[in-house]
Amino acid sequence: MVEALQELNPAPRLLMGPGPINADPRVLRAMSAPLLGQFDPQFREYMRQSSELYRGVFQTANRSTLVVDGTARSGIEAALVSLIEPGDRVLVPVFGRFGHLKVEIARRCGAEVRAIETEWGSIFPDEVLEKEIRKYKPRLVAVSHGDTSTTMAQPLAGLGRLCREHDSLLYVDATATLGGMDLPVDAWQLDVVSAGLQKCLGGPSGSAPLTLNERAERRIFRRRHTEQGLRASDAVDGEGAVIRSNYLDLAMVMDYWSDKALNHHTEATSMLYAARECARILLKEGLANAFARHAKASEAMTAGLQAMGLALFGDQKHKMANVTGVFVPQGVDGEKVRHALLSHFALEIGTSFGPLHGKIWRIGAMGYNARSDTVLATLGALEAVLAGEGFGIARGAAVDAAFAVFRERAG
Ligand SMILES: Cc1ncc(COP(=O)(O)O)c(C=O)c1O
Repeated sequence: MVEALQELNPAPRLLMGPGPINADPRVLRAMSAPLLGQFDPQFREYMRQSSELYRGVFQTANRSTLVVDGTARSGIEAALVSLIEPGDRVLVPVFGRFGHLKVEIARRCGAEVRAIETEWGSIFPDEVLEKEIRKYKPRLVAVSHGDTSTTMAQPLAGLGRLCREHDSLLYVDATATLGGMDLPVDAWQLDVVSAGLQKCLGGPSGSAPLTLNERAERRIFRRRHTEQGLRASDAVDGEGAVIRSNYLDLAMVMDYWSDKALNHHTEATSMLYAARECARILLKEGLANAFARHAKASEAMTAGLQAMGLALFGDQKHKMANVTGVFVPQGVDGEKVRHALLSHFALEIGTSFGPLHGKIWRIGAMGYNARSDTVLATLGALEAVLAGEGFGIARGAAVDAAFAVFRERAG
């Protein structure tokens, strides 16, 4: 009890795992702004601005561009529960843990799920997806852009067109890539996309930006059943099946964000401030600059790890720009290394799970942490710890190699 009465004062950490990462200080400052009532005109204006900013981030003109209150998973679940009617056929390409998550959520929504799998560390060629869509004729395809569990990014440029040709909707989980890798929602014809703040957007987790186009709106508003006590006297229910979640019912959430201002849930005001600030900072930097910054940090990190004598994990042509998988060297205890990094360098890198458990570390450089100083500090610390473990390393090579990559840009 005495300890619980102490002031909360966590020791600083440099978070270089697969997310969460250190939030941009400007985002934390925005979160300490005074609370407002959610129907205060000032607050409604902040909501309107957030929609506008996220249209920029998602590269879309979608009217329904909003923020779901909850971690990234709430965005995934809101999309799937609102789109899937029991009995719908759903295709999920699984190339890591977060594919399995979508399978699990879609099954809970009553879908007939066809999950196709590829070895962790690889992605699906377009032809495979095309064949599956032709054969299975899903009403919905649900796929991750980047899967942090394997550090792979699925190419999506042709998938939207393919889904349209076969009258399927396409949902994309961009939690791990939005703001760090290009994802032009309209140009790639992605129907619904959701994300989280805690990766390339440089915020804390707890808010899920989401955008959906008119095709998806139609599917969801067909199922609109506004709750008793909130509905207008002349409200007419949609003819589709009721959405099996109240909190994550995107028909009501869209009505809350629209000029209807339906009083659905109590806004997570400070998270809205955070989400708005993340988008503002990103657009101020410029999307192209942010993508280039992530790509450069990734290039430097991989150059440094290889110079250290470590082997990278997975198909490097399809590696995410913001997370790198690297094999734990033979004879080295991966967890002991992570523990030493945390206790001596206050630095966190990620472990792994599923078939990769204990085999790779996952090292992130994203959002606010996609910088030269963080990459160089991570490589230096890892080198020192590995040397202490007796792993033979050319000392100094990792930092030199990464530094050379960053200097190229400067010069
Ligand atoms: C691709 C992907 N989807 C979903 C999630 C789940 O996000 P959250 O833990 O914020 O709910 C993550 C988190 O790492 C992720 O990387």
